[in-house]
Amino acid sequence: MGSNAIYDRHHEVFLLWACRETGVFDALFAGKRRSDVIAEHAGITDRASEIVLEALVDSGYVRETEDGYEPTEELRGFDPETPPLERGILPHRVDSLENYIRLPETMRSGESPEPTADGFKNYMGAMASIRTGTLRAIVTAAEHAHPRPERVLDVGGGPGRFGAEFARRGADVTLLDQREVLDLLDDHHAKLGLDTVEGDARESLPEGFDLVFSARMTVSLSLSGISEYFGNVFEALEPGGTFVAAEWVQGRAEVAERFGVHMLSMSDVGNTYTEDEYLSALESAGFADPEIRDVPDTRFQLVVGRKPE
Ligand SMILES: C[S@@+](CC[C@H](N)C(=O)[O-])C[C@H]1O[C@@H](n2cnc3c(N)ncnc32)[C@H](O)[C@@H]1O
Repeated sequence: MGSNAIYDRHHEVFLLWACRETGVFDALFAGKRRSDVIAEHAGITDRASEIVLEALVDSGYVRETEDGYEPTEELRGFDPETPPLERGILPHRVDSLENYIRLPETMRSGESPEPTADGFKNYMGAMASIRTGTLRAIVTAAEHAHPRPERVLDVGGGPGRFGAEFARRGADVTLLDQREVLDLLDDHHAKLGLDTVEGDARESLPEGFDLVFSARMTVSLSLSGISEYFGNVFEALEPGGTFVAAEWVQGRAEVAERFGVHMLSMSDVGNTYTEDEYLSALESAGFADPEIRDVPDTRFQLVVGRKPE
């Protein structure tokens, strides 16, 4: 896009937000096809309907047919009938915009917006949409830190993309996450062949693993939460086992400070952390050889610690 003009940089997410908010998408998914009918259904003016429908056509979210306007595959994530893990990143991006608009209030009160049931599904859809190349690069880098792990614990595994990749490479994988995640994705985890355990990583973890892995999870914790989590990881590992956390580390990942703001906008706890903060939490938990490694061809780093034999 290359331009700083406001209608270039912010246009699309605001357009999607306004159309979701007013019910333009509901109208399209309910089969309304004509601009004036969509306007009536959504309670917007005819002028607005004509303008936004043309803009949606221009961006590829809607196509014009003989019958009128219809949603394309690109808009499918906004259809309430679309299963959460097939929604892609867009609905969560629009939810994030709403959180950003509320940021002044969050900054004053320290309280982020309550997530809605649908927002939670959108969040899981966004997590599931990580590029396969990035995912595989991270798992490959984790396997460099601990070759051919047999028993892997994927902490905060969410939709299970990482857990499934370790399983595909031959590991027995247990995915740990919070109850609401497991309830939403029960069937999906079973299809992936993942054992699941409910838990809070700050409180305790199941034991007996040679690799404990987590991705994009410590950003949901405070520094003291990270200390508790790393202490529990140490107990969960067999002697000689390895801990690997894939994160954006401040000072190493260009996106880290911006992602801190993202966490501020969506959650009452969480941030991104520096290399020193991760290394000192690993050392305090008893890990040997703590290190931070870049994952080639991605923006991620691995936080790595070993449990001595
Ligand atoms: C950003 S998502 C990442 C999901 C998955 N690891 C991935 O990268 O696709 C963070 C996940 O960590 C889980 N989580 C956050 N805090 C947790 C905690 N204290 N204990 C267990 N899971 C937690 C959330 O429920 C969520 O599924």
